[in-house]
Amino acid sequence: MSGNSSHSGSSLDHRLTGILDDRKSKKRYRSLKVFDDHKSGLVDFSSNDYLSLTASAELRANFVARIAKAPLFLGSTGSRLLSGASPSHSALEQRFADFFHAPSALLFNSGWDANVSFFSTIPQPGDWVVFDELVHASVHSGLRASRVHPDHRIAFDHNDSESLGKVLDRISSSPAASSHKGPVVFLALESLYSMDGDMAPLQTFLDVLDKYVPRSRQCIVLDEAHSTGVYGPRGRGVAYALGEEGGWEEPNMSQGAGRIGVRLMTFGKAVGCSGAVLLCSPTIRSFLINFARPFIFSTALPHSSLHALEAAFDIIQSKDGETRRQKLFALCRHLHAQLDALLETCPRNLLRLPPRPPSVSNPGSENADMSSITPIIGLITPNPHALSAFLLEKGFIVRPVVPPTVPPGSERIRLCLRSDIPHSVVDDLSAALKEWINQKQGSERYGSIVGSSVFAKAKL
Ligand SMILES: Cc1ncc(COP(=O)(O)O)c(C=O)c1O
Repeated sequence: MSGNSSHSGSSLDHRLTGILDDRKSKKRYRSLKVFDDHKSGLVDFSSNDYLSLTASAELRANFVARIAKAPLFLGSTGSRLLSGASPSHSALEQRFADFFHAPSALLFNSGWDANVSFFSTIPQPGDWVVFDELVHASVHSGLRASRVHPDHRIAFDHNDSESLGKVLDRISSSPAASSHKGPVVFLALESLYSMDGDMAPLQTFLDVLDKYVPRSRQCIVLDEAHSTGVYGPRGRGVAYALGEEGGWEEPNMSQGAGRIGVRLMTFGKAVGCSGAVLLCSPTIRSFLINFARPFIFSTALPHSSLHALEAAFDIIQSKDGETRRQKLFALCRHLHAQLDALLETCPRNLLRLPPRPPSVSNPGSENADMSSITPIIGLITPNPHALSAFLLEKGFIVRPVVPPTVPPGSERIRLCLRSDIPHSVVDDLSAALKEWINQKQGSERYGSIVGSSVFAKAKL
C-alpha cells in the first residue's frame, strides 16, 4: 500500500521534474532565495519598500498602540458578505475614498485579487479592452476569465501612443463603435511600470483615447501599485497629481480633466503592508461585490491589516511622509546621475538603461518631471545572473529579471530605491557596477569571458 502510494507520488514528481528541468535548460527556473539583510549587513536593492516604512519606529509604535486598544485585532473571521463586514472595513474604505478623492472604494486582499476581480467581471461581451503590453500579469489573468472575446482584448506597444492610436483606429472602424451607446472601450495602464521603471505618458494616452472614443464609452483603469504613497500630494498617486482622477458621473467632483474612472492602489509596496483598494464608482463597487469571485469567496482583510493600514496612512499623509518622499526623490536623482555618467562610456551591449519615456509633468510641484526620478531602475544586460552574483559578493541584493517576466533580449538587473538608503551606499553600488564593467571589458578583451572568475562564481 505504502509502496503503491509512494510510487504514484514519485511518478507525479517525475513528470513535474521533467517540466522543471526543461525550464532550467531555458534558464527560466525560479527558486526562493532568502536573505536576512537585517542580520547579514547586505543592503537590499530589490525591496519595494520605497518609503522605508517597514522599518519605521513611528509606524511600529502607532500600530502597536492601535492594536492594544482595539476590540478586534486579529482575523476578520469571514468574507465581507458574511461575518467579515465590520465597521472598521467600512471606515477604512471611507478614509481612502476621501483621501484619494474617489466616489467609493472597495478593499481587496491583494492587488492581484483586485485586478483579477475587475477584469474578469466588469468588461461585458462586446466591449473592448485595450492594454499596454507590459501591464501586470493579474490583468491578463482577469481577462482570461472574462466574457470579453479574445479578439476584443488588444495590446499596444509599451508606452507608445502611436501604437495605441492604431489599435483605437481599428476599433473605431468596427460596427457600432462610433455610437454613444456602443461598446465600452477599457484602457488598462500602469502609472509606473515595475520592470523599466518608466511612467506612462498618461495625458497623451488620454488625449489619443478622446480622439477615437466618446467619453461616455471610455473606462480608464490605472494601476498605481508602484506609485501609491510615492507620487502626488501626500502620496495620492499620479492620476491625482495630474488632476486626472475622476471619470465618474458628477463632473464637479473632478479637480482636473478627470478622465480616469478606476484606480488601483496597492499596499504591499510603499505602504509597507498588504492588500489593495479599488477606487471607482458606486455602481462598479456594487457590481464587484455581486460578481467578483476573489472578493466573494475569500476571508476579508484581517483586523491586524486594517490597523496596520490606518497606521501606515497616518504617516504617509503626514509631514514625515512628505520628508520620506523628498528623501527618496533626492536619492533617485543621485543614482540616476551616477548611472548616466557610468553608462556614458559603457558599451550598450554590456549594460544599458531602457529607453527613456516622454516626460510626465507635475506642474507646480518640486518634482516637475515625475518620470525622470523613479525609484525603479532596470539595467539591461545579457548577464543578469552573473552581475547579480557579483553585486551580492559586494554586499548588495540586486535581483536578476529574466524571461518570461521580461521579453527575451531585455534581461536585466533591477534596482529599487528606499528613502532611508544613505547616498554613500548608492556610491558604493555605483563603484561596484563600475568594477564589474571594467572586469567584463577586460575579460572580453582577452577573450576568456566564460572562464573568468565572475562567471565561475555566478555558476555556483
Ligand atoms: C503593477 C502591479 N499590479 C498589481 C500587483 C499585485 O499587487 P499585490 O502584490 O498586492 O497582489 C503588482 C505587484 O505585485 C504590480 O506590480
